[in-house]
Amino acid sequence: MEHGRLKIAVLVSGSGSNLQAILDAAEGRELPARVVVVASDNPAAYGLVRAKERAIPTYVVDYSKGPGEEPDPLPFDLEALLKEQRLFSGLAQGELQRRIIRLALLEEELLKSLEPHGPDIVVLAGFMRLLTPHFLNAYPMRVINIHPALLPSFPGTDGYGDTFRYGCSFGGITVHFVDPGEDTGPIIAQLTYPIYPDDTLEQVKGRGLGLEHKLFPAVLRWYAQGHVKIEETARGRPRVKITAPDYSDFVRSAVVSSLR
Ligand code: GRF
Repeated sequence: MEHGRLKIAVLVSGSGSNLQAILDAAEGRELPARVVVVASDNPAAYGLVRAKERAIPTYVVDYSKGPGEEPDPLPFDLEALLKEQRLFSGLAQGELQRRIIRLALLEEELLKSLEPHGPDIVVLAGFMRLLTPHFLNAYPMRVINIHPALLPSFPGTDGYGDTFRYGCSFGGITVHFVDPGEDTGPIIAQLTYPIYPDDTLEQVKGRGLGLEHKLFPAVLRWYAQGHVKIEETARGRPRVKITAPDYSDFVRSAVVSSLR
């Protein structure tokens, strides 16, 4: 924290509308935070332009190109990493190992770009890549993602499409801590919205994204204010409780805003 303000690193892959919502909230003082660095796996991500416009340092680790030559020794304990990670279930051992090494080497570059800026937390705002424990252990319980569905339903890359095609009459969004699985980490907060019978997928996405832009800055504000409490449970899975006094009012007004 810096003068009571949270230092946030943001990872983006695409348009960065959630990054924009966070930047606007931080500028408008309703979010006691500063975005200290923005990094992307995609050199063409528009989120990078949004950051540059505000003179925020940006970095690209181009995942499509890969990490280059494999260093020897690897900058991580491969055996421990393979044991801890919970990605790519069903893959043969050799292929799994190849993918984990590739991801962790790219993450090593990401970590190096974030580290000099000393972020308190890392926020995934439309970052479309999986993270291994190599990255996550550098920021334990300090990596936060927004997912466009009501987890644990519809994990993966197309939450809105999956919700819509399944025929749900309510959709949702989830802000959660990232753990070594895919979209399985402890839930911090969720919102739901109705899907009307004549809605198109585009309308559903628009309604959900409108809520994302409200929920993500609110969660970060609660986090900065110390209102996001992590409780250990008997089953070993942490449970998150929000103690913010404005929580109920926030939920009411956000949900009402999504109604016709
Ligand atoms: C959002 O729907 C987010 O939930 C998902 O990817 C989308 C990113 O949008 N993970 P943007 O880049 O923030 O505009």
